[in-house]
Amino acid sequence: MSWIRESTLSCLQTCAMKVLKSGQIPRHVAFIMDGNRRYANKKQYNSFIQGHTEGFNKLAETLQWCLDLGVREVTVYAFSIENFKRSKEEVQELMTLAENKFKKLLDEREKLMEHGVRICIVGNMSLISENLRKLMDEAMLITKGNSKALLNVAFAYTSRDEIVETIKSLAQKVDASQLLPEEIDEKLFAQNMYTCESADPDLIIRTSGEVRFSDFLLWQFSYSYIYFSKAFWPEFSVWDFLKAIFYYQRNCDELQRLKCYSELSNKV
Ligand code: FPP
Ligand code: MG
Repeated sequence: MSWIRESTLSCLQTCAMKVLKSGQIPRHVAFIMDGNRRYANKKQYNSFIQGHTEGFNKLAETLQWCLDLGVREVTVYAFSIENFKRSKEEVQELMTLAENKFKKLLDEREKLMEHGVRICIVGNMSLISENLRKLMDEAMLITKGNSKALLNVAFAYTSRDEIVETIKSLAQKVDASQLLPEEIDEKLFAQNMYTCESADPDLIIRTSGEVRFSDFLLWQFSYSYIYFSKAFWPEFSVWDFLKAIFYYQRNCDELQRLKCYSELSNKV
């Protein structure tokens, strides 16, 4: 399965999407793609990796929905630093899946170029194998000039690690006399994070019925609308997606008001 695929929506689904398109579309949607292993168990698959592979297919489908709807930025939680604690076998299988998918992405680079999609990997690259890192670096390099849509793949990522690494890089700049401590503010901090290329997410969608953040984008979530879906990630449907967009549209004015209020009070 490719990263970018053709739209397969029915007439009714296309119609529903058109209706929602007349409302406010979130600029940036982040996904916590949870429930692959419970899905594999439910389907009585022999191995969790079948659940993760179907999870990747769902990711490709979801990216197409986002492109159709006009979402400019998407961030997906593909592999957390905590996931390294899983069995050696599962970690290895997930790394092999990622390598295969990034090879595929490079083979199909024209599709990414055609849609103007830029790829960014957000995470601690020092924890990723050299092979995978090279593939990820190449994906980032060849898509650097694309500006229609941005896909952030959070890999070897946790929010706490991101914050610690940001503090380290700022401390090094202070140490090298490139920066004064009093020059550090929220804006400069955000500009030094893994996610510095992105605006904060407007909408976060977590699947599988779990109601928690799992150390994902904790700094960036302050004014995001959170939608929890009960579906396991491989079962997440276009209707679940459109429902999340609908709830976002019902709440986005209030979120915008709170954000403006906070920006104003920070200036006073
Ligand atoms: C969470 O479900 C999912 C993951 C840890 C992996 C997600 C990865 C993919 C969807 C593939 C993406 C691949 C690339 C190359 C971007 P879980 O394993 O925690 O399932 P559970 O909650 O049922 O235990
Ligand atoms: Mg899980």
